[in-house]
Amino acid sequence: MIRHFLRDDDVSRAEQSEILDLAAKLKRDRFATRPLDGPQSVAVIFDKSSTRTRVSFHVGISELGGSPLIFTTASSQLGGKETPSDTARVLERMVSAIVWRTYAQEGLEQMSEGARVPVVNALSDDFHPCQLLADLLTIREHKGGTEGRRLAFVGDGCSNMGHSYLLACALAGMHVAIASPEGYLPREDVVTDARRIAAEAGGSIEIGTDVAGLVADADVVVTDTWVSMGLEDERQQRLDDFAGFRVTQEVMGFAKPDAIFMHCLPADRGYEVDADVIDGPQSVIWDEAENRLHAQKALLVWLLEQSR
Ligand code: CP
Ligand code: NVA
Repeated sequence: MIRHFLRDDDVSRAEQSEILDLAAKLKRDRFATRPLDGPQSVAVIFDKSSTRTRVSFHVGISELGGSPLIFTTASSQLGGKETPSDTARVLERMVSAIVWRTYAQEGLEQMSEGARVPVVNALSDDFHPCQLLADLLTIREHKGGTEGRRLAFVGDGCSNMGHSYLLACALAGMHVAIASPEGYLPREDVVTDARRIAAEAGGSIEIGTDVAGLVADADVVVTDTWVSMGLEDERQQRLDDFAGFRVTQEVMGFAKPDAIFMHCLPADRGYEVDADVIDGPQSVIWDEAENRLHAQKALLVWLLEQSR
């Protein structure tokens, strides 16, 4: 059966753990496996800007012995001119996997429906599951594991990162707290799924507007931009609405003394996080960014193996 990775809970708890174990192994021995030798190609398509995702997939596919085929929607027939499913019909005859950064989750679902190669979500408006694999690897490294650890996300809960933290961290057995202003709380259906997963995995989900209460005793404090790609027109309104949801030293003080700070990047210093936090001793953002490479290599190896 062809396996796709469109949202964090497209893998089971055991499968997520297996991918993270493989990521740690590939980090220790970067050139241990070359399943894309040939080279086989992997298409990586962007509707939105990217630094980390683009570079980590390019380098990762190359290190696995493959050839990265990176292009933008604007330079292709996809996006208005050709449907995601017709695009998939063509690509699947030439490449071993399709990776796509886009807007609507629905496009990814259409792309993957019946596709004969794995389709990977490289960020949509709703989820950023590749980022979460890297984040969980980083938490494992700095906190010795994920189960029972408490993660507090301060910011736009109704964003790709807010939703992915809920699902992926619930799968990893964590206690997840989301602190967002009214109007920016996570989507109800995602919260329901996360609560079900957390109940099975021994974790928990808390959602609210009280930053101090939700960050209390956290092992990991995370945030993300207040203005995600595609929402630039709402910038001023959002800067007003998110006042009070910045991660400052005071907010870090509510967490455990040895808490780590993470951010998927790019960051807007002085908005969602103060410079002395993101550039301070508790921040592990550069490890987190590096882990995109190892986590995505593991994901590709695993998906190709499963989809044989
Ligand atoms: N974190 C992340 O996905 O970064 P890019 O937008 O640079 O890919
Ligand atoms: N929430 C951000 C993540 C960027 C990696 C966005 O969608 O722009």
